[in-house]
Amino acid sequence: MNKTLTVDHLASMKREGEKIAMLTCYDATFAATMDRAGVDIILVGDSLGMVVQGRSTTVGVRVDDIAYHTACVAKGLNRTFLLADMPFGSYHDETTAMETAVELLSAGGAMVKLEGAGPMIDIVQYLTSRGVPVCGHLGLTPQSVNQLGGFKVQARDEESADRLLGDAAALQRAGAQLLVVECVPAPLGKALSAAVDIPVIGIGAGAACDGQVLVMHDMLGLGGRAPRFVADFMQQSQSIQGAFEAYVKDVREGRFPAKEHEY
Ligand code: KIV
Repeated sequence: MNKTLTVDHLASMKREGEKIAMLTCYDATFAATMDRAGVDIILVGDSLGMVVQGRSTTVGVRVDDIAYHTACVAKGLNRTFLLADMPFGSYHDETTAMETAVELLSAGGAMVKLEGAGPMIDIVQYLTSRGVPVCGHLGLTPQSVNQLGGFKVQARDEESADRLLGDAAALQRAGAQLLVVECVPAPLGKALSAAVDIPVIGIGAGAACDGQVLVMHDMLGLGGRAPRFVADFMQQSQSIQGAFEAYVKDVREGRFPAKEHEY
């Protein structure tokens, strides 16, 4: 039996320059298959609102939805680290954030993820100083899609790139132990990964990030019209486990993402 990965292990992967392979997942069978394929981190993402519940955004997802799918995924795992997303409106104040975190960690999550910086820095500080492991999420933050005016590449100009670098440093200071960065130019993904000690997991943020994440349905070619940063790993595989293995290998060996997947 393999030992479950820990935050220390993820931090040492960054120090050793070993790339981290992360995927989203929502049930026990896929979780067990990803675990066997060597996926390091599973995210029970609020993307489930779109790929499982059929919504057009993640905004309507509730804490109970994430808790239910986290408990399902946890049943399938042996080695893989389990990260659970805090959905929209479930961490806007300290008490609500703590209640959400308790629910998701009780369901089997090893860490919770929340989007944004600014007022969220104090929430991260509040949670981490009370024993809750936290992952930040910067760049394209899908819960703010209605404010951002769509799913678009972020921080293309110098001023917003500098702001993002400052936000990453602030999240680290507040105790975040992992950071997801979504849809930013590849040079900024590289700069972010170099600027903080915590592992930076990119999605559409370039090959120089410390690790990569994709939504499972997208990398299995089930997502319909996929964004530029997605590769369909079923194209080169005979089975779903084979697709997960190919993804892990390509991330580890720096073949994914390729230039064509970057902004
Ligand atoms: O919910 C999700 O799947 C995510 C990933 C896009 C990182 O947050």
